[in-house]
Amino acid sequence: MNTTEIVESTIEFVKETLGDAEAGHDWFHTQRVFNNALLLARDEEVDVLVVSLGALLHDIADAKFHGGDENIGPRMAREFLTSIGVDKKTVSEVCFIIEEISFKNSIGRKRKGELPLELQVVQDADRLDAIGAIGIARAFHYGGHKNRKLYDPDISPNLKMDKETYKKSDGPTINHFYEKLLLLKDRMNTPAGKKIAEERHEFLLHYLEQFYSEWNGER
Ligand code: ADP
Ligand code: NI
Repeated sequence: MNTTEIVESTIEFVKETLGDAEAGHDWFHTQRVFNNALLLARDEEVDVLVVSLGALLHDIADAKFHGGDENIGPRMAREFLTSIGVDKKTVSEVCFIIEEISFKNSIGRKRKGELPLELQVVQDADRLDAIGAIGIARAFHYGGHKNRKLYDPDISPNLKMDKETYKKSDGPTINHFYEKLLLLKDRMNTPAGKKIAEERHEFLLHYLEQFYSEWNGER
């Protein structure tokens, strides 16, 4: 298979596998991440095939929805890519991206300069889909899936409660903005990713301001 055929066949595989995934992690999320990744890759000296396959396969099997099994995604990707004859080096690089990409794994990890550029690009592309208008939609969608409140003025978003108490409180979705969404702009790897993240960050701030003002019946 040539590169185009490999990418096309991976798209088909991912579409089929993510068929019934919830909206925050469905094929359209993957498609947006793939498009963002190609955009960011233009400014970087990267192996575009590794970036493409990493983006397409990054959420192939989220551990959250598979009993916490962190290995299932990389394993499925490896099996698939090997079955269509992708070379070993590319397979390893793509699987490394899938293993490392989650926000959780990036906390306290090596400095970003030590990570492969292909991983940095895909990670940025995934993070961009968690902020801005789409990011807001995904957060409330996820909260709805978990039957969470939109907001609760008694559980202050900035409150630094311990993890267990927070879990029991079943944190309102607005809290997720402070836990994750507003932190992402400072965690971007690439200059192009950072620039887009800053614009989307401003949008989040504007959104929150409007949210509180409507909540309080101000306007
Ligand atoms: P991804 O794997 O695509 O990087 P996650 O699996 O961490 O992202 O989350 C998927 C989407 O659900 C993201 O948009 C994220 O912001 C949102 N999300 C994750 N956890 C929460 C939460 N506790 N409350 C609201 N939204 C959440
Ligand atoms: Ni993702």
